[in-house]
Amino acid sequence: MADALKKVVSVLLQKGGVGKTAVTANIAFEAARMGLNVLFVDSDPTGYGSELLTNEGYLDGLTLSDCVAPGGEKLDVRGDVIRRAWGGWQPVNDLPWADGGALGGEQIGRLDVLPSDPAMSQRASANGSTALRSLFKVLHRGAGAPLVEDYDVVLIDCQPSPDLASQMSVLASGWLLMVVLPESMAASRGLSLGLQFTSELAVGWDHDIAVGGVVINSFNASTREHREVANAIKIWVADNIEADGDVLGQVWGTPVSRSTAISKAMSAKQPVSNALIEAARGGRLAQLGVTKTHHRPVGQFTHFALNTAMLTCPEKVEGLKARLEAEPMPPTMGAALNGVASVDKPFMARAAGE
Ligand SMILES: Nc1ncnc2c1ncn2[C@@H]1O[C@H](COP(=O)(O)OP(=O)(O)OP(=O)(O)O)[C@@H](O)[C@H]1O
Ligand SMILES: [Mg+2]
Repeated sequence: MADALKKVVSVLLQKGGVGKTAVTANIAFEAARMGLNVLFVDSDPTGYGSELLTNEGYLDGLTLSDCVAPGGEKLDVRGDVIRRAWGGWQPVNDLPWADGGALGGEQIGRLDVLPSDPAMSQRASANGSTALRSLFKVLHRGAGAPLVEDYDVVLIDCQPSPDLASQMSVLASGWLLMVVLPESMAASRGLSLGLQFTSELAVGWDHDIAVGGVVINSFNASTREHREVANAIKIWVADNIEADGDVLGQVWGTPVSRSTAISKAMSAKQPVSNALIEAARGGRLAQLGVTKTHHRPVGQFTHFALNTAMLTCPEKVEGLKARLEAEPMPPTMGAALNGVASVDKPFMARAAGE
């Protein structure tokens, strides 16, 4: 895969409300906490991710809409459009990992946001046939070094419908990450549509993109239907997504639990790990309805952040894993550590080309 594309991951599924934004934002945060520089691109015109991560009137400033509109190439995207995610989404280095800070308290990553706005597709379409390539140009071209070189990981949070904004995202990315719910076989329909949409675009535009992974979200292990559907999804992925060479299409390890900790953290506009740490410190875990098993999502997102790094900056993964192992989480997060320990070893080895 071309170097220009390999850092960029589109998170996409042709079905709404499956948790794309929640999963993308939490992977982004955990990757930043590990020391990686991360850009979250919101390509959903409804702007849920922008609001979540900026916690402010993000529409007051310039947005991705301005960058992809005619004349947008003249903007200084780095200086005038991209912003730091608000403090609640920045890892801190004065706390050890055990308390929710940076790994080893040393190198710390940052989380930046390229926000969207409701007029995005409409404004981009004024560019005619070049509109489809406009997000690619924002990330990969421009004066000086391409923007993408500022980051280790660029995650694009897509909207569920296959309109221009989603097409622009796919054509700016080297990897596709799909998020599905294990609720019914509608899940595999969302996967089929997503895969078909992406391959048609890729073929039509001679664009190099591969499935990096499939995340099962909101899984309840005690629900028989969830177990059955999760197995069916694994079989579907094995049958329909090629896994050779650059193509890593796999179901990514353990599913993300269905957890009130996740929905409550999202309502509080915080990453799951910070919300849990704050609650643990204030002795409010029980009040939040959080039990020990709710810590699992933190480990799962850490695991997915490592898998994402395996796609976009594989040369950094060994170092990240070593730091993670050297400084485990505290007892209150013990279950999360188990989540990390369950990183799918064969997948990691295969991705590393071993
Ligand atoms: N594992 C989970 N457990 C509990 N709640 C979750 C989980 N994942 C997501 N949610 C909640 O489900 C809702 C939908 O999630 P989200 O907005 O991330 O989905 P989406 O796929 O991005 O939706 P859209 O298609 O509208 O962009 C949110 O309220 C979110 O907090
Ligand atoms: Mg979303």
